[in-house]
Amino acid sequence: MPVAVIESLDHEGRGIARCDGKAIFIEGGLPGERVEYSTFRSRPSYEQANLSRVLRASAQRVAPLCPHFGTCGGCSMQHVEIGTQLATKQRILEDALWHIAKLEPGLVLPTIDGPAWAYRSRARLGVCVVPRLGGVLVGFHEKRSSYIADMLSCPILPPRISGLLPELRELIAGLTHPDRVPQVELAVGDGKTVLVVRTLVSFNSRDIKRLTDFGERHGLSMWSQPGGPATAKPLAAGEPAVLQYSLPEFDVRFHFRPTDFTQVNVEVNRLLMRRAMQLLDPRPGERIADLFCGLGNFSLPIARLGARVIGVEGSEALVQRAAANAKLNGLEARCEFSVANLFEATAQSLNKLGHLDKMLIDPPREGAIAVVKALAEGRPRRIVYVSCNPSTLARDAAILVREKGYRLAAAGVANMFPQTSHVESIAVFEQYEAGARD
Ligand SMILES: C[S@@+](CC[C@H](N)C(=O)[O-])C[C@H]1O[C@@H](n2cnc3c(N)ncnc32)[C@H](O)[C@@H]1O
Repeated sequence: MPVAVIESLDHEGRGIARCDGKAIFIEGGLPGERVEYSTFRSRPSYEQANLSRVLRASAQRVAPLCPHFGTCGGCSMQHVEIGTQLATKQRILEDALWHIAKLEPGLVLPTIDGPAWAYRSRARLGVCVVPRLGGVLVGFHEKRSSYIADMLSCPILPPRISGLLPELRELIAGLTHPDRVPQVELAVGDGKTVLVVRTLVSFNSRDIKRLTDFGERHGLSMWSQPGGPATAKPLAAGEPAVLQYSLPEFDVRFHFRPTDFTQVNVEVNRLLMRRAMQLLDPRPGERIADLFCGLGNFSLPIARLGARVIGVEGSEALVQRAAANAKLNGLEARCEFSVANLFEATAQSLNKLGHLDKMLIDPPREGAIAVVKALAEGRPRRIVYVSCNPSTLARDAAILVREKGYRLAAAGVANMFPQTSHVESIAVFEQYEAGARD
């Protein structure tokens, strides 16, 4: 078995070693470690490998908490001490900004951190009938595979949901058509937890009774979803089809449906919101755009602080939810929301939003290249960019700095997804002149 010494970690948390000028990406290896590895993909300039044995362990190595670590594709950094995970994510962000955009933030922001485990308030679990493995599997996908992992617990889920996984498997196995149930979605709101069971056939009355009895036994609200996300509804007659979460610091609450986009980590979302509002510093009289606004997660705190918000979002359903949430909080007079495909933003479409003092951008992984390209030079004077992909953030940052007259004033990470290699970050761009005056 070949042996290598790991030099560093890549952006997916894999150890990188070098052998005869070739990079070897070794899953599970940590910097400084001497390891045996087995290659599963070989290319002329690199190899991908699994770690077989640690010959000299790093002081940062810890025992993974989850028995499914290594098989389940959900978390790949459980073997790394949590402080080192955060430091690695900070380095991944800074490396992306440097290698892709040749940028260094003026200030590296303190990292935002929350609970290391049991943090997921949302999850989409795949379901698969595998008689050879004893019936029905419910879980995340296996690493590099479309198979569902054979999971009996999951320490990043709320403990009571993790503890229910074996019973959930039995529940689905006992339905009339378990092979027609491809997925179960979890959504935790204030005081209410929903499981949405996706089904390709209608549940009969026996199935509905089984599911609702399970819900009653475990204090869960059981929903069915026979088609697209809009078809999800509670199985119990008369139950309100809505959940709620709140941001007490800004005295706002949000209604949402379990299939809506919401941030997965409630505590980190609250801290991220505090940081975003400190950086954006909304003031009465200002007009602030919230692009990719979803159901108004950032919009309502901005409005609560006195600014006028112009929210834009691609999903019609979420725009409706954002408007209803503004009303729910008595903030409708300061909010306007519209639907647009921001991947096709143009100078004209941004102009239509009117004068903007500041902007918050929170795009999906693809980033916001059309938006940053369409910005007119000189405005808005400050942009706070929340990103779930350092590569697209760095790409967009290069345009903001090289073509649009901004400087990268600050950037830092938020540990939204502990134990995984996903990097959530926040960056602030200031127009040069405004920055110089501040
Ligand atoms: C990372 S989420 C952020 C949502 C919201 N800011 C929040 O914190 O809950 C990205 C949002 O972008 C929206 N989106 C995705 N593609 C889009 C597009 N092409 N145009 C506009 N919005 C889009 C999604 O529907 C989603 O609400």
